[in-house]
Amino acid sequence: MRTVTTFGLAALLLGGAAFVLTESAANADAAAGEKVASVAKGDPVKGKQVYNLYCLPCHGDKGDGKGPVGVTLQPPPRDFVKGEFKYASNDQELFEVITGGAAARGGSPLMTPWGAILSENDRWNVLRFIRSLKGTAVSAQ
Ligand code: HEC
Repeated sequence: MRTVTTFGLAALLLGGAAFVLTESAANADAAAGEKVASVAKGDPVKGKQVYNLYCLPCHGDKGDGKGPVGVTLQPPPRDFVKGEFKYASNDQELFEVITGGAAARGGSPLMTPWGAILSENDRWNVLRFIRSLKGTAVSAQ
């Protein structure tokens, strides 16, 4: 009788331990999933449509900053093919520049805030698209 009880207790404890292990593994998976999701936030294909409508006149059809309006501006619009940013060193900051405009960071007011015009998803989509332009084309000159 005693053996059975001990065995039963051991089984319970083991079961509990296994449960805890499974739980923490599931949490680790969830955390990893969130990380992957935040790295890949935004859809570049949808972002291209947003870009063509709103950004292309300044940033250019190749993303090199030489759009028909862009060539007339000083400072020039950012060259996304080069892919170097002045006010942002990661996706979150880039998202904030697109949302709040460059003037909020001491830059050109011609890079206007897009937060009231584009949905949050569209801002992530266009961000993912301009990120995808880095190194894509060789400038004509
Ligand atoms: C009217 C012209 C114009 C339009 C339209 C425009 N931009 Fe810009 N953009 C600029 C200029 C000018 C700069 C450079 C600002 C500076 O150096 O201070 C710039 C800079 C940027 C930067 C660089 C920020 C950094 O940290 O270096 C990003 C990103 C950007 N634009 C994204 C966009 C997106 C996305 C759109 C469309 C939704 C867009 N721009 C539309 C003119 C424009």
